Amino acid sequence: MKNITKKYTNGEVTIVWKPELCIHSGNCFGGLNEVFDPKKRPWVSPDGTTSEKIVNQVKKCPSGALSYYMNNNTEDAEAVEVKAETIIEPKRNGPLLVYGNITVKDSSGTETKKKNATAFCRCGGSGNKPFCDGTHKKIDFKG
Ligand code: FES
Repeated sequence: MKNITKKYTNGEVTIVWKPELCIHSGNCFGGLNEVFDPKKRPWVSPDGTTSEKIVNQVKKCPSGALSYYMNNNTEDAEAVEVKAETIIEPKRNGPLLVYGNITVKDSSGTETKKKNATAFCRCGGSGNKPFCDGTHKKIDFKG
């Protein structure tokens, strides 16, 4: 899949959408349908609510497909505030989510820094292991 990045702004905050990272958790549209509605085109409409609500909703994205930056702070683009505590959450029929800033080290010693939340494959089908790539949906993973 192509690396596509789309941006949507209300003038104060900019939502950054990277569809290739999406794992289809559904966290984005639960609770803020006036902004995130997968049935509409474009599916992101940042007007009609507060920037604070948008930021709080974007922070629920476990994959990093959605991120944000405040328009008056471009140096901080895509930086994400993370609480100190690490939380690990196995999603039903989906990935293992790890919330927090982490470093993933592969067998060759290469390190990858991840921010906010990282989804690790539990189904075994990902083409981007150890990370989830959404394949669990296609293979109807149960567990
Ligand atoms: S859990 Fe998502 S691809 Fe395996």
